[in-house]
Amino acid sequence: MRVLYLSPSAELGGAERALLEGIRALRSLEPSWTIGLFCLEDGPLVGEARSLGVDATVLPVPEAFAATGESGRNPAVTLLQLTRGAGPIAGYARSFRKAVLSWAPDIVHSNGIKTHLLGAWSHGTAPLVWHVHDFLSTRGVSATLLRRHRRTAALVIANSRAVAEDVERVLGASVRIETIHNGVDTERFRPDGPAVDLDTLSGLDAATPAAIRIGLVATYARWKGHHVFLRSLAGLFANRAIGRHDVPFVRAYIVGGPVYRTGSASQVTREELEGTLTSLGLNGRVGLTGFVNDTAPIYRSLDIVVHASTSPEPFGLSVAEAMACGRAVIVSDAGGTKEIGEHDRTCLVHRPGDVPALTEALSRLIRDSSLRERLGRSATAAIRSRFTSQRFGESLGAAYKQIAAPLCRV
Ligand code: GLC
Repeated sequence: MRVLYLSPSAELGGAERALLEGIRALRSLEPSWTIGLFCLEDGPLVGEARSLGVDATVLPVPEAFAATGESGRNPAVTLLQLTRGAGPIAGYARSFRKAVLSWAPDIVHSNGIKTHLLGAWSHGTAPLVWHVHDFLSTRGVSATLLRRHRRTAALVIANSRAVAEDVERVLGASVRIETIHNGVDTERFRPDGPAVDLDTLSGLDAATPAAIRIGLVATYARWKGHHVFLRSLAGLFANRAIGRHDVPFVRAYIVGGPVYRTGSASQVTREELEGTLTSLGLNGRVGLTGFVNDTAPIYRSLDIVVHASTSPEPFGLSVAEAMACGRAVIVSDAGGTKEIGEHDRTCLVHRPGDVPALTEALSRLIRDSSLRERLGRSATAAIRSRFTSQRFGESLGAAYKQIAAPLCRV
């Protein structure tokens, strides 16, 4: 079987890391399959895929299309960008189609909205899979375009039941939709293993080894809730009990960076976060590490991991990875994260954007090390039983075999 993946981005955001994990799992389950990847830009995903034995090609997209992104933008701006770029985009689509057809795939699996549309034009007779990692209903222009092309997709994979319900609302019940939760490499994301010095990484003075370390690990997308996190920390530090001798010293970190090319409409900037740190009086207590590729050692260096997305999270790969590393995680309770964690058993939850509730959950965990340990242990066990890479790869493989032409199913 020849499976060709299409990815709009070559940066390592959640959707790209999920894709790599799926490929890694399939490689060991189906070693005879040939796996290809077409990327619309160059970046770390390409090298990572090649190291897994993938035939990866970069087909650089015209700038007008590359910079188009809907998250956090007025739909009229997106439409205008698309209209202005129509000429070069049509020319690009023709050469993309040629490249796909000459690769001769048995399955075309697209991992993002731009390639869902390009795939619709170029998959030829190979069944097309749209892997949806986002809530399409929040992206009006994309939703309209995808609805128009929905018949080209033999299968839509949703990364959570919440996303599957949204896909059905947007594309209609005639589309075949399957929920396949992402998988976590539990050898890499495990409680024991190397850690990092977060203070050095973020340019802070070394804190006492007994410090409790709290982190938000996310891309700089606006809806990831960086400001909610910082305001909760300000609330926490304003509580005079924190810092008294009976309450451990607390340090916090924002781990991540602006990985996508869609600009500051949809992403916070480092300067903006620095400004918020200053205005909330958090300088010296909260560090910004910047983008980190290998997040497993980061999780192992944290006592508490915060997920603060202000909109429903489609899945929440970082939540699953932090749980696999045995951390005490506080989760924003909407969307796919509800399918990963369970309040008071494997994590604590707070309402999206609810600063006092997040402050309260933080203060509970800071004071109670046995609660942190209990949640961490159950979290690791939950991920190891329900979100393994093996299960992810098997589900992808089974889906491809169901839709591929009979002669290709080997
Ligand atoms: C996207 C989603 C995130 C999910 C990831 C992998 O990045 O925003 O929730 O974990 O895709 O499916």
